[in-house]
Amino acid sequence: MSEVKVLVKDNGPFLVTGTVTITDAAGNTFNLNGKETFALCRCGASAKRPFCDGAHKTCGFESAERAV
Ligand code: FES
Repeated sequence: MSEVKVLVKDNGPFLVTGTVTITDAAGNTFNLNGKETFALCRCGASAKRPFCDGAHKTCGFESAERAV
């Protein structure tokens, strides 16, 4: 199994790298089109949730957590 990495971007999305499956609450799978790097929205403003569409840049989202 390959390692999956999730980068918490400052003021932006979760950047996911690796082979993963994303499902909704009903168990349906989102089509990643074979991508092994993609961004998940964490600001809530994306029109393509759960994926980031860049809306965090204009909605005023601020978040820059650091692992401690
Ligand atoms: S984090 Fe990019 S649109 Fe929400």
